[in-house]
Amino acid sequence: MIKVAVLGYGTVGSGVVQVLQDNNELIASRIESPIEVKYILDLREFPGDKNEDLIVHDVNVIMDDPEISIVCETMGGTGAAYEFTKTALSRGKSVCTSNKALVEKYGPELIALAGKNNCNYLFEASVGGGIPIIRPINTSLAPEHITSIVGILNGTTNYILTKMDTEGADYADVLKKAQELGYAERDPEADVEGHDAGRKIAILGSLMTGKTVHYEDMYVEGITSIDTLDFAFAGAMNKTVKLIAGIYDNDGEITALVAPHMVNKDHPLAGVNDVFNGIYVTGNMLGEVMFYGKGAGKLATASAVVSDVVDIARADIKGVKIPCAWGEGSQKLTDHRQRKGRFFLRVKETDSDKLKSAVNGLAEETVIDGHAGYITGLMTEEELDKALAGIGTDVKMIRLLQA
Ligand code: HSE
Repeated sequence: MIKVAVLGYGTVGSGVVQVLQDNNELIASRIESPIEVKYILDLREFPGDKNEDLIVHDVNVIMDDPEISIVCETMGGTGAAYEFTKTALSRGKSVCTSNKALVEKYGPELIALAGKNNCNYLFEASVGGGIPIIRPINTSLAPEHITSIVGILNGTTNYILTKMDTEGADYADVLKKAQELGYAERDPEADVEGHDAGRKIAILGSLMTGKTVHYEDMYVEGITSIDTLDFAFAGAMNKTVKLIAGIYDNDGEITALVAPHMVNKDHPLAGVNDVFNGIYVTGNMLGEVMFYGKGAGKLATASAVVSDVVDIARADIKGVKIPCAWGEGSQKLTDHRQRKGRFFLRVKETDSDKLKSAVNGLAEETVIDGHAGYITGLMTEEELDKALAGIGTDVKMIRLLQA
């Protein structure tokens, strides 16, 4: 019998308990051993809850119990969750988590601590909600040199952008709805300012490069400046607007950024709508592969946590090691402004001559509501900034996702 403790009985934690209990027989048949949730740690009481007898308030009850071999950390934050994770790992208890902030901040230390204590620190649910992406990178894509990972990694902002695009919905109303549906972070700024997607691409980038990609080193821009006129231009140009988190390996120069991008309607990521996430990975042998699914929500995320529980249980039974591509050292990032791309530029129609004389090779003039929109030729963002310096009028710029 494998005995598990769940730290935090909130949205994801209660989902983890539900998945382990509702699919108990199925999971047991797949790992050839039953799994039982023995404890749930939470500060609160849950009178009337069917699991109320499993609630404990003292983490030491869990840490001191030799029967507990796997701990699911679904508390969030980088305070108590960090301390409890370290204690569990140093006592040889494997930890599975959905806590991307903790993974992004302390991933290498916790992975190393797990290795030292012959247990595992797994974090499938930290990126892309229910989408299997960490395990495929560690296993299925192990023979590949991954040259880029480009993703829609935040369900809340994708939900907001989709509703703005398809329904012309009001930003504040849609954000409120996303919060009600349990998609948004406690602090919605983490979603709309791009920080959540940034932490997720930092985690994927660390697996891609084998070294820690620091989120603080990355350029991060959210969706708060995107308006209905941007969508009108995007639509007229057969594109849509998505919050894209990307990491690119250009002959060893690694660049990473999070920002709204215009995406051609025929790109697979353009069809990723609502709370869904899509992760488009390019390998040097495989070519492109895309992972798609629900990027947020209770049971989708909980399922990914439980997939780690299953992985650990199987590995423990067989005595094998679970691979992790995230090694030691820090990954140097090159300024994203040095990477070549194309850009959508928008000015008031009366200023279009100024823009055309500042930036060479503009294509596809589109005029909507007194504004003119253009697509630049291939250039670096640094070159674009230089061209626009001193133009003397406001220019709205949105990057284009390269196909
Ligand atoms: N707030 C996150 C999102 C939850 O909207 O994607 C899942 O990480």
